[in-house]
Parts: sequence; C-alpha cells; structure tokens
Amino acid sequence: MSTKNKKNETSSCQDTSYLEGLFDFIDHSPTCFHAVANIGEELEKAGYQPLSEKAIWQVKTGGKYYVNRNGSAVIAFSIPPKEQKGFHIVAAHSDSPCFKLKELPELSVEEHYLKWNVEKYGGMILSTWLDRPLSIAGRVVFKTSEGMMTKLVNIDRNVAVIPNVAIHMNRDMNKGIEYNPQTDMSPLAGSIREKDSYLALLAREAGVDAEEILGQDIFVYNRDKCSRIGLEGEYISGPRLDDLECVYGGLQALVKEEPGSYINMLAVFDNEEVGSGTKQGADSSFLRDVLARIRSSLQLTEEKYQCMLAESFLISADNAHAVHPNHPEKTDSVNKPYPNEGIVIKYHGSQRYATDAYSEAVMKDICREAGVPYQTYANRSDIAGGSTLGNILMAQVSMNTVDIGLAQLAMHSACETAGAEDLDYLIRALSVFYRR
Ligand code: CO
Repeated sequence: MSTKNKKNETSSCQDTSYLEGLFDFIDHSPTCFHAVANIGEELEKAGYQPLSEKAIWQVKTGGKYYVNRNGSAVIAFSIPPKEQKGFHIVAAHSDSPCFKLKELPELSVEEHYLKWNVEKYGGMILSTWLDRPLSIAGRVVFKTSEGMMTKLVNIDRNVAVIPNVAIHMNRDMNKGIEYNPQTDMSPLAGSIREKDSYLALLAREAGVDAEEILGQDIFVYNRDKCSRIGLEGEYISGPRLDDLECVYGGLQALVKEEPGSYINMLAVFDNEEVGSGTKQGADSSFLRDVLARIRSSLQLTEEKYQCMLAESFLISADNAHAVHPNHPEKTDSVNKPYPNEGIVIKYHGSQRYATDAYSEAVMKDICREAGVPYQTYANRSDIAGGSTLGNILMAQVSMNTVDIGLAQLAMHSACETAGAEDLDYLIRALSVFYRR
C-alpha cells in the first residue's frame, strides 16, 4: 500500500475506535496479574463462565469458558454447538519487562533516603526507567481459615523515581553508559522516615494486617498513561504495548465472534519475557492440560482428538520491530515493517518464529478475507533477534502455527510506540480466523 493512499485513509475512514479500550486496558493493567483479572472481567461480561483447575469440568457444546493459572495466565474458549473440527487458537503474553522488588525490599542511604531493592524482570532497556514517575503493583498472599488467599495490589499514585546522575557529576554521560542493575537502578521511594513501611503499604492496599502477609510478587511499573502522538495522531505511545496490544486484540475478536466449526481459544501466557519455562508460561503444560480436559469433557476419543489437533491452527501474536526512523539500517533491507501498514508476519530461518509456507499462506488468506494489509519481518541475518511463544508452544502441543505481531518501536522500553491503525487490522483479521 502506498504512502499516499495511507495518508488519505488515516484522515478519512480508518477505524481507531478500539484504541480507547486498549488504553483503558493497559492503564489498568500495571502487572500481568491485573491484566489477567481484567481479561476475566471482560470475558464474564461476554458470557464466559469461569472454570477452576481444581474442580471437575463439565464443559458443553455451545458453551463459553475460561480458566486462569497462577492469576497471571488465562485460556478462554468457546465451543461451537454442532461440529468441532479442531481448535483455532490465538496466543499472546501478559508480562512485560520491568523491575521486581526483592523479598526484603528496603535500602537506606546515609540515613536520609529510602530506596527499593530491585532486580530485572526480562530484557529491559534500563535507561528508559530513569527520571519518570513510578509505582508498584502486584499480588500479596495471606492465610485465612479457607486456606491461602491472593489479593491484587496497586499503589495508584506516583511514588518512586530512579534519578539520573547530573551531567555535572558525569561529563561522559552522553557517551554511552553501562547501567549496573544492582547499584544504578534502585528507585528512590521516599525519605528515611518511611523505613519499615513497605508491608504496611501493601497491607493497607489489600485490606489485611501487615503481619498476615506471607508472600508477595511486587513489580515496579511506569506511571505513564497511553496516548496518541504524531501530527495526525498516527501513533500510540504507552507502556507494555508488547504484548498487551495483541492480548487486547485477541480478546476483542474472541468475544465478538461466535465460533464457526472450530473451538475458538485465546491463550495468554505469563513469563514470555523470562523464557516461558514456568507453570504458567508457554513452555508449561497449561495449553495441553486445557485441551485434554476439553477432550475429556466432550467425551472425544483419543483418535478423534488427534484428528482435531491435526486440523487445528495457532496464531502466535507478539509485537514486531518496526523500521527505526533514526536507524533504518537495523532491519533487513526488504523484510521490514512500518507502523500502520498492517499485520506483520514473522519469519526465521532457524524457526525461532514458527511461520512456514503453509501457515503463512493461511495467514495471508485470512488477511485478504478481512481486507487487512500484511507485511513481512525477518531479522538482519547478522542480528540474533528475539523469540516468542509459537515455537515454544509447539513442543507442548503441535499444530500448524504462524508468528505474527504489530509493528512497534522501542520494544522493551518503559514506554513503547506503535501505529494507531494496526489494532483494528489485528481485530479484523483475528475475527475472520475465529469465524471460520
Ligand atoms: Co513480546
């Protein structure tokens, strides 16, 4: 699609009405736990019934269900009333790179400052966390007469900052800095008067006593809200676009489409940013377990189930690298996507992206039917690049899989940038997939 055509489309008819919902979702999802809770709420509004992994399932044809694991991963599915040829699955991830607070998180400096003791979660761009308002959110676990209970917490105000060293104290500041995560990245959380207040802060938020809290997963998050930027609002800017943008797109498509002759599924995994190797990650049994339980509930024979898997298709949706305006040389010379120019199909010679000739053909066909443009991404052959969910999932449950994403800049920055039009493209394409 030419630049000229795009411009006309931007100012006239391109639908960006989903952005308000995306912004609201991201702003209210400071951590993977909040994202999964918000997904659950939206699923229930759309008639999806919650299932527990601890209870016997009685799922029925025509039913809509969802189940979460660890409060940070969720699989939703909608079963068509008549035939079930197989599974149509969209996978994405709930986590984003950030800082995690250590179990004993308070550090004092010269009896004046109180800092938080943090470590890296995922491959983040450290410098982007400096000099911006931060806060903390996550979950706490406490014991009740009914057993261990979990509550989400979010200190919903500007609390902390990681200040830069003044240029007067480091004249080499603009020559490139190596940040040490142990010594350079501790957020300043207040004066020393606040020492020993951490558990009380979480307890107040959770509505429990500080001494009741036995466990915690607490992360630092960027307080920036999502917004439109660009002279014509062409772009969106905000935290955690990777991968909450694809999560939101998958969710919108799932709840608005009735299944055709496949069981529609949305699988959102945690811990993609740290290798997926946890009980709630893509490399766990979660998807396989849910599929097996659907099989058992619907009383499908093993033979029928295997036939269904062979008929199934998975779209692994995780954002992709757009051409950088200051560094276009970082991308392959032709397989390079731009924001607002459609869904990115990702390719990798060594199969770190699962796309192959068959799955790319299916994806292109879906885009054509949806009237959505698509682009291609491959790493420069001398750059290693990243990996994602697709090929990891295939070690657990194997089916035809394509890796896609939306083009974005500054991946793994505290604040990322993407195209304002691409979410609509994603929802339209995934809707066609779910309708088939
Ligand atoms: Co990602």
